[in-house]
Amino acid sequence: CGIVGYVGGQNAAPLLVEALGRLEHRGYDSAGIAVVGSRVRVTKCAGRVRDLAEILPKRMAGQVGIGHTRWATHGPATDVNAHPHTDASGTVAVVHNGIIDNAAALRARLTDQGVPLVSDTDTEVFAHLVALSDADTLEGKVVDALDAVEGTYGLAVVHADFPDRVVVARNGSPLLVGVGEKEMFVASDLAALVRHTTTVAHLADGELATVTASGFTTFRRDLTRTQTTAREVDVDPSAYEHGQIDGRPRMYTEMLEQPASVERALRGRLDERFATAHLGGLEMDARELRAVRRVKILGCGSAYYVGQMGASLIEELARIPADAEAASEFRYRSPVIEPDTLYVAVSQSGETIDTLLAVEEVRRKGGRVIGLVNVVGSAIARACDGGIYLHAGPEIAVASTKALTTMFVGFALLALQLGRVRDLSVADGRRLVAGLQKLPAQIEQVLEGEERIAQAGTALAPAESLFFVGRVRGYPVAREGAQKFKEISYRHAEAYQMSELKHGPLALISPEVPTVAVVPDDELTDRNVAALHEIAARGGPLVVVTHAGVDLGELAAERIDVPRNERELDPLLLTVPLQLLAYHAALALGHDVDKPRNLAKSVTVE
Ligand code: G6P
Repeated sequence: CGIVGYVGGQNAAPLLVEALGRLEHRGYDSAGIAVVGSRVRVTKCAGRVRDLAEILPKRMAGQVGIGHTRWATHGPATDVNAHPHTDASGTVAVVHNGIIDNAAALRARLTDQGVPLVSDTDTEVFAHLVALSDADTLEGKVVDALDAVEGTYGLAVVHADFPDRVVVARNGSPLLVGVGEKEMFVASDLAALVRHTTTVAHLADGELATVTASGFTTFRRDLTRTQTTAREVDVDPSAYEHGQIDGRPRMYTEMLEQPASVERALRGRLDERFATAHLGGLEMDARELRAVRRVKILGCGSAYYVGQMGASLIEELARIPADAEAASEFRYRSPVIEPDTLYVAVSQSGETIDTLLAVEEVRRKGGRVIGLVNVVGSAIARACDGGIYLHAGPEIAVASTKALTTMFVGFALLALQLGRVRDLSVADGRRLVAGLQKLPAQIEQVLEGEERIAQAGTALAPAESLFFVGRVRGYPVAREGAQKFKEISYRHAEAYQMSELKHGPLALISPEVPTVAVVPDDELTDRNVAALHEIAARGGPLVVVTHAGVDLGELAAERIDVPRNERELDPLLLTVPLQLLAYHAALALGHDVDKPRNLAKSVTVE
């Protein structure tokens, strides 16, 4: 969910709505604002921020307010479940990101006390708890309410009796205070602030803040002051103004930006003379790099799949055992944390709570974690011991494209640097440096083949269910391809190792179930082509992403050739057509490509 707040000299409502529009990547099930005038007035509805803008009363005066865009956790996306939530008298309004774990018990207690609850949410209880507190100050009331609550939160509260302020609290969900000229801002994400200010304070877990037009103060739950200060963040606000191509979805613009974003991710990091990479942000010297005995990559969703590609790169180039694991699972299986393992957290947003909690778990147990993160200054970036910024630029579409390809580049650079302080030869180092330098132009070439891929994607759209298959380096490519496809087309797309098909899923192959196969020209081509025959023999239609020269005979209904690079780097170029494939299938189905149903771009609840 996304949170915003404003205190200053301007009319809050339009400002809040504009800022919420920049936070829709955090959720878009419903939206709402509360403005403090002579009383607290709330407007909210299920749907998008643009739906909220339409129902906003013409006169909603007030210079203090809070707003929210929701990704449903407790209760469906309805008008009453939209935030802000209020107490029965409408004196208090609250917006909340996170999950109150003991909400059921608190609801029962409030109901017993005769407090009427109108929504299904965990947040509503918080508004009632604030209203029921007999503390004299809003800060005291919020602390009283927090004392009753277990769980995670980033929250903001306004109160009719304290009309000059917003009180915010953080525990596990990000919260920032932005400093303007005689006006102050609150947000869960920098994207909502940069238009107004780049002077920002990040609240720490367990911290609260009082925000008024003239400044902010931070304190702990026991009301003792803390010293959190605002700092200038090094971001280019214009990067957040997203150009769109002919009104096409953002995902399209972002896919087309990939040659440029990959170029940025490589800039200044390749060393032709010593045939290696230099990653300044790693903060590890050659001796420390040499001491790494194992690499463990942690990420969620697409970041996890690219993590699998990264593990292959590290094993192949540096010959260090490496694997990737879903960060959301890692923390809960009591992992053994080893001092000579390098942990790598990979995340576009840098705010995914599952990944952040995994990082904290590793650190608590003495492990070393580096980040591969796109958003500068984000929670994961700050929690790591150094890392690699991706430089993809802001990514808005839920389906990740340009961040993902820069993640791959980040892993390739890391693998090269780790390899070159070990056994990787100069010749191999040169081969990879040259390969990496070729990537931007080769991605451009793949994108130029859009028309053909669009045909294939459109042809796949009617299929209710399909497979994505690949082997070894190609398997994470297939997993990511299937993920992209299911995210935006809502079709059942299942990824499988091509070698495992015959051990079960082949039973599902039929003329109605197409297969998208990743078949690079490598040491496994023959085996892969044999598996394609097995699919074709069962009438399964095939779309094959491959290299020119791979002989497929008449096997494939559609073949998509990508340019050759070094074998280790092939996964990146094989991934790009699968993005376009999913995109065109989703367009053919008439879906909102940028905001697929049920999802959010960054998930800050566990
Ligand atoms: C969400 C998004 C996915 C994304 C994942 C990880 O689930 O819907 O598309 O891959 O989070 O996001 P991150 O920002 O950590 O890369």
